[in-house]
Amino acid sequence: MSFFDLFSSHVTLAESNICQGMVDAHSHLIPGVDDGVQKMEDTLAILSSYEALGVKKIYCTPHIMEDLPNKTAHLKDRFAQLREAYQGSIELRLAAEYMIDNLLLNRLQEKDLLPHGEKEDHLLIETSYYSSPGCFEEAIEQVRSLGFWPMLAHPERYCYMERRQYEKLKEEGVKFQLNLPSLLGKYGEDAKKKARMLLEKGMYDFMGTDVHRLDPQFADRKMKKSDAEMVLKLK
Ligand SMILES: [Fe+2]
Repeated sequence: MSFFDLFSSHVTLAESNICQGMVDAHSHLIPGVDDGVQKMEDTLAILSSYEALGVKKIYCTPHIMEDLPNKTAHLKDRFAQLREAYQGSIELRLAAEYMIDNLLLNRLQEKDLLPHGEKEDHLLIETSYYSSPGCFEEAIEQVRSLGFWPMLAHPERYCYMERRQYEKLKEEGVKFQLNLPSLLGKYGEDAKKKARMLLEKGMYDFMGTDVHRLDPQFADRKMKKSDAEMVLKLK
């Protein structure tokens, strides 16, 4: 660290220590099942870089949506292959990222689900970035009535969502999962500002990287020191 870095208002992800002992709640690491990583060698390279950062546990959360109707059994098979190929120290778990759409309503009805969390009592859900789904309330009610906590992926990325709706969702028992890259500037200023606002209000419950592909610069990407300090409190 140079003399000037002592006074810098930014830190790299590696310097921040955020990843030390971190549980990454959201990732697309199972090769070839969605728009995430396509090759096993890339998955293994990402896992080895995450090991170097100190990540402890990763939930693999492939997309399930009408446009990508991954079957539960298929994902279990592909996850087993990943577990066999990976010999490192990070604990890998399988869950899924469910788009709120009619397919989710069907899967809920059939209780055909890949739950999330230590007690498997959460369900990771997402919506379109631009508009609220018509069945948003219905889906949340059904998730709750089956005994799961809805865990909303990257709430800071939804352009249509405003402060009041975040508060309402929290009142309804929805948990929030921060995408770490939002604070590293990956999705632009709006997502970064919203992430900061939600952090300041103490609204996040989980964090994740939502990794889709190998980023050799990941550990060196910078964030505001004050943001890093708020994220550290989440751990
Ligand atoms: Fe995702």
